[in-house]
Parts: sequence; C-alpha cells; structure tokens
Amino acid sequence: MAFFRACAKWIFIIIFIIFCIQYWLEHKSYLFSDEAVNKIAKKYIGQDPETSFPKIIKDFRRQYPGHILPDEEMQWIFMNAGGWMGAMCILHASITEYVLLFGTAVDTVGHSGRYWANISDTILTGSFRQWQEGTLQSTVFEPGDIVYHPIGEAASVSWSHDTWMVEYGRGFIPSTLTFALADTFFSTTDFVTLFYILRVYAKAMALEAGFYISEIRQQMKDAL
Ligand SMILES: *[C@@H]1O[C@H](CO)[C@@H](O)[C@H](O)[C@H]1NC(C)=O
Repeated sequence: MAFFRACAKWIFIIIFIIFCIQYWLEHKSYLFSDEAVNKIAKKYIGQDPETSFPKIIKDFRRQYPGHILPDEEMQWIFMNAGGWMGAMCILHASITEYVLLFGTAVDTVGHSGRYWANISDTILTGSFRQWQEGTLQSTVFEPGDIVYHPIGEAASVSWSHDTWMVEYGRGFIPSTLTFALADTFFSTTDFVTLFYILRVYAKAMALEAGFYISEIRQQMKDAL
C-alpha cells in the first residue's frame, strides 16, 4: 500500500513538472524563430555547402552576437538515431532552442523521432522525403523548401546523398537528447561520438549561461 502511495506521489510530481515546463515553453520569449533562421538559410539555397556553411555561420554570428559557438568549438559530429545516420554541426543550443547545420553525404532512411519540440529545416541541397504517420504516401522536399516536424509527431524520413540543411528546434531540448543519443548508446556504441555530442551541448549551454550572467552584471553596474 505504501509502495503504491509513493508511486502515485511521484507520478503526480512528474505530471506537475511536465505541466510547468509546458507552461513555461508557451510563455517564455525566444531568441530565434523559424522565419529568422529560414531568412538566413535561404540566401544560400543550392550552393556548395563547403562554401555556404561558413557564410551561414558568419551571418548567424552577426545577427546573434554572443549566442553562436566560436569556430574552434564547432565540430561536425556523426548522429545515429532512428536507424538513419547523418552529421550535425551545432551553432547554438540552450534548454529551449537550438540551431544546427545538418545533412548526410550518403542515402539514409529511418524514424524521425517524436519530440517535445517543434523542428523546422530549410533544405539547401539534395532532397528530403517525409512519410507522415497515418498517410499512405510521402512528400519530397527540395532545396528552398521548409520541412516542419511538429511537436509530438512522428514520420519516416529519407535523405538522398549530399542533402544539407539548416535546422531550428524549439521546445524542451534536453528531452530530444534521449532519441538523439539512443542509437549511439545502444547500437553503434560509439562513445567518442556520444562524448562529442554531450560536450558540445555543455559548451553551448555554458555560452548561454555566460551571456546571461554578463548581462545581469552589466544591468547591476548600470543600476548602481
Ligand atoms: C509548436 O507549434 C505549435 C503549432 O504552431 C504551437 O502551438 C506550439 O506552441 C509550439 N510549441 C513550442 C514549444 O514552440
């Protein structure tokens, strides 16, 4: 009896925390938006990613000073999830947002993941096929298109080789890590990649924390 009471208590606490986070997500202000990320990305549609990605990073740095990782901390990291394999380069990440470059040099297909986040992708090169749950056909997205992956939804995703894009995610980002890391942890057991992913996320969070601490310090100085 005491066991069930303890369980009920924890279930109640967890549901309460989820509601609090959801309320916070719906009422907080955000640094980026789908439109703002797309506006930068779409200038480089169809261009060779080797040359366009450095320019995209520069544009983001100009528009969001202090929120984009420095070059020496940026890194292309393999990502295995849902059966597919791609690579990502994180520009910005916090508890509620991320901006990253994503793509694959080979054909790959798998499960999109079901996230507690809204995700949008601007396709720069290649093609992205999305088969949404409950439908009997897929949609192909081409360079210049935006692909939306709404919160709580799942799809089958397939990228042709040399597909590259800019991705923006908004939601409870730590929850997306379970999917992002699952294949690395249980399938590839590539713990070097696991370490890289956790390290770059930690660095991005530290950058954000540093930004807000210096802002608060500045405000206190101004107030005195
Ligand atoms: C996700 O998108 C939906 C539909 O546009 C919106 O109602 C919801 O608030 C968004 N959630 C987050 C965390 O941005």
